Amino acid sequence: MLLGILLFLCCAMGVLVYETNGLITEFESFIFESSSRESTVTLTPDQQVAAFSTMIREKQSHFFSTILVALIAIMLTTLILSLRHVIRSVREEDHPAADIPDDISLPDTVPEAPDMVRSEIFEALEKMDALLEEDEPANDPDEEFTADFEFIDDEDEGDSGVLADSYNKMVEALQRTNELEKELSSQLADANARLETEVSERKRAEKEIRHLSRQLISGTEEAQKKLAQDLHDEFGQTLAALHMGVEALWNSIPEEMTGQRDRITALIGLIEELGDKIRSISSDLRPDLLDDLGLIPTLDWYCREFTEKYPRISVDFQSVGFKKRISPEIELILYRIVQESLNNVMKYAKARSVEVMLTYSYPKVILMVRDDGTGFDPGKRTGGIGLIGMRERAVSVNGTVDIRSEKGKGTTIRGELPVS
Ligand SMILES: Nc1ncnc2c1ncn2[C@@H]1O[C@H](COP(=O)(O)OP(=O)(O)OP(=O)(O)O)[C@@H](O)[C@H]1O
Ligand SMILES: [Mg+2]
Repeated sequence: MLLGILLFLCCAMGVLVYETNGLITEFESFIFESSSRESTVTLTPDQQVAAFSTMIREKQSHFFSTILVALIAIMLTTLILSLRHVIRSVREEDHPAADIPDDISLPDTVPEAPDMVRSEIFEALEKMDALLEEDEPANDPDEEFTADFEFIDDEDEGDSGVLADSYNKMVEALQRTNELEKELSSQLADANARLETEVSERKRAEKEIRHLSRQLISGTEEAQKKLAQDLHDEFGQTLAALHMGVEALWNSIPEEMTGQRDRITALIGLIEELGDKIRSISSDLRPDLLDDLGLIPTLDWYCREFTEKYPRISVDFQSVGFKKRISPEIELILYRIVQESLNNVMKYAKARSVEVMLTYSYPKVILMVRDDGTGFDPGKRTGGIGLIGMRERAVSVNGTVDIRSEKGKGTTIRGELPVS
């Protein structure tokens, strides 16, 4: 501390001697210049005293500020020296608790206050703030964001120039990003438009396929219906006539010709069998009941017939919520789905019981056929077209068919079709 005060006094004295010398030299040159100059004005002694006192005041303020700076410098130097001293003494004593790193460094000189640099930095920062405030993006999220920044003049040297340069680089990068974004947006819009066209094309194609499939199904159904009618009407009548004729023949043969009579009896049996077959085929092709009485009585009859034909499989049919008939096209599709499901049960399931449940739940009808048989893997493709046909029929009227099955856990077929 004492060293500091001594240093300060020495500095103050030095500065005082230096400044006084400078002042005298300056006053001498001023008087010399005034007298040697070609001038009409000559300084009176009063004026010379006034000029001298002004110079003294100027020098006074310069002297005090120099003293102040010197004082701060001396205090900092003293502080640094004291700290160095303390660190050295701690290290020398090798105190166990002292953990002072070896690379600790203290400044050798007192840093100068960088007033000029600071003011330039502040100026540049203010410029940047003002620009950013002007170009703040709108809060509306729908409004397009445009980074419309201006470049700052970066001709200045020093820190403000560096700041302006960095700012300009940032603006350039933002503008490039903006351009890239615009380009990407337009590419995205093009891709979207293409996608939309493809999607609408696809939808149109799907609609067309559904329409064609519906036409095909209804064409097939029409053909089957005609075949069923022809079988029933033509063959049925012919067989009935044949039956009557053979019966008449049987009656005309004398009782003692038992051999002939037996052969004719067997013929009658064959004709009746043929009649049953034709009726069954014709009913499979298109049951008369469906057109005449509607879906519910037809399914009820079909399920009972099935159990009669295959007594080891019991079929339970239930319907819920049907108060009136639904569209004939939907009735026929539902009938076909039940028909194919029960055929598959009979062929593959080894089931003991089957539930057929039909529920009217406007605007759709829900069909469920569930068996307790072997089950299968619905994802596995086979050569059959029964399950595919079910789906095709449902899709053709905007409905769905869902097949759930697992080996050993039975099979459930669920169909949902619109009421009309
Ligand atoms: N209820 C079921 N239980 C067990 N397996 C079944 C059942 N339903 C279908 N399958 C299996 O699914 C396969 C495909 O059935 P799908 O009805 O499509 O064809 P298919 O009956 O073999 O032939 P198609 O119906 O064309 O005469 C069948 O081969 C059978 O292995
Ligand atoms: Mg099948």
